[in-house]
Formats: sequence, C-alpha cells, structure tokens
Amino acid sequence: MISKIRALIMRLFRPAGLYWLARPSAKPLSHKFGFDRGNPIDRYWIEKFLTANKKLITGRCLEVTDSFYTIKFGLKVTKSDVLDINPKNKLATIHGDLKHLTTVKSNTYDCLILTHVLGLIDDVQAAACECHRILKPGGVLLFTSSCLGPILKEKVYWRFTPYSVKYIFGKYFRSKNIDIKTYGNVLAGQYFWVGMSQQDVNIADLEITDVRYPCIVTLVAIK
Ligand SMILES: C[S@@+](CC[C@H](N)C(=O)[O-])C[C@H]1O[C@@H](n2cnc3c(N)ncnc32)[C@H](O)[C@@H]1O
Repeated sequence: MISKIRALIMRLFRPAGLYWLARPSAKPLSHKFGFDRGNPIDRYWIEKFLTANKKLITGRCLEVTDSFYTIKFGLKVTKSDVLDINPKNKLATIHGDLKHLTTVKSNTYDCLILTHVLGLIDDVQAAACECHRILKPGGVLLFTSSCLGPILKEKVYWRFTPYSVKYIFGKYFRSKNIDIKTYGNVLAGQYFWVGMSQQDVNIADLEITDVRYPCIVTLVAIK
C-alpha cells in the first residue's frame, strides 16, 4: 500500500507525458526500472509470457530469487525450490551457482523459471548446460532476458537477441524443442529505457510486437 502511494506521488510530481514534451532530459524518470512509479514495463511481457505457458509450470519447479512466478502461474506444482547465488537470500532453498549446481542431481526438475537472470552470469554457456542437465527428460525451461536496459545495482554482463539465445541454448536443446519469441517495439523500448512504469503508459502500446525492435526475448525449451 505504502509503495503504491509512493509510486502515485512519483507519477504526479514527474509526469511521464512531460518527459517527452519538455526538452528530453539526460536523466531517466527512474533508476529502479520504474519500480518506484508502479509496475516495470518489462514485467508486463514477462507475465504475458508466463501466462501463455502456465500449463508448463507444473510438478517439481525451480525459480531464481523467490517463488513469485511459480506461485502466481503454477498449476499442480508438487515442489517449489528457489535458487540464489546470494548467501543472504533467506528465501532460497538452494544456495548455489547456476553455472555449477553441485548439490542438484541430473534430471531433477519438471520446470525451470529463469526470468532475467542469464544477463548477470559471465559464463552463459555453462549456465545453459546446467539448466539442461538438471531438467528431467521432457522437462521445460521458461526463460526471459532483456534485449536492452540500464546497468544499475547488479553487474550486467550481457543483453540478448533471439539469435544469441538460439546459439546458447541450441547447443544443449534440440532445435525442434526450442521456441523463441520477442516482445516489445520501438516506443515501448523508450518507455522502458527512461524508467516509466506500466501505470505511466497506454498498455495497448506494450501489446505491439515489432521483431526489429525487441525489448525482451523469451525461450521455451523442452529437454
Ligand atoms: C534480477 S534477479 C532476476 C530473478 C527474479 N526472479 C526476477 O524475475 O526478477 C537476479 C537474481 O539472480 C541471482 N543470480 C545471479 N547470478 C547467479 C548465478 N550465477 N547463480 C544463481 N543465481 C544467480 C541474483 O542473486 C538475483 O537474485
């Protein structure tokens, strides 16, 4: 509730419309991906992607940081694990590095939810290999990553395109078992880049997909 009021005040005092009308500023509206103004723009697409694939979020699931999307979209989840490399994360049931998950046996999970994590990992190929290893045969990886975005608190190594996602995961998953999509367009990309929130914009603008101007890239990969 308090964060909603704070976001409303942010939008009232720094209206998004003025950002374009006045001489555009070199400063963004938010240094928090728009979290301080409402729901971030890219979260709209992440949730749209997970909604479209919610039937696959089932059985034994693993998500990074917390179980937010497993709980929100999962159907018939039998066990929900949370992975984080951050030893301070009390929500994590597994503290470890996705590049080398020593404590996780091969063929363990029905579903991995990897939203906006891979860009933070230096050796992406090692992480993709581990994703494949810990999935059961027939298990599914639901992946999202940014094609563009600011570098704020976390160390960002990579942004991705459909081509790089296919290259990275195509080494481990058969191409017939891979489905890659993009979300976003040139206008929505500017909304996201300057730190607007979903509450600042016309949601219909986020619904337009222009593959030449992708904002996030998604992957469904079946082992
Ligand atoms: C930006 S959050 C993204 C995940 C979150 N579920 C989301 O949708 O926003 C990035 C998380 O990945 C974790 N992380 C970064 N590198 C990692 C690695 N090599 N292995 C496991 N977790 C990692 C970070 O500690 C952080 O909790």
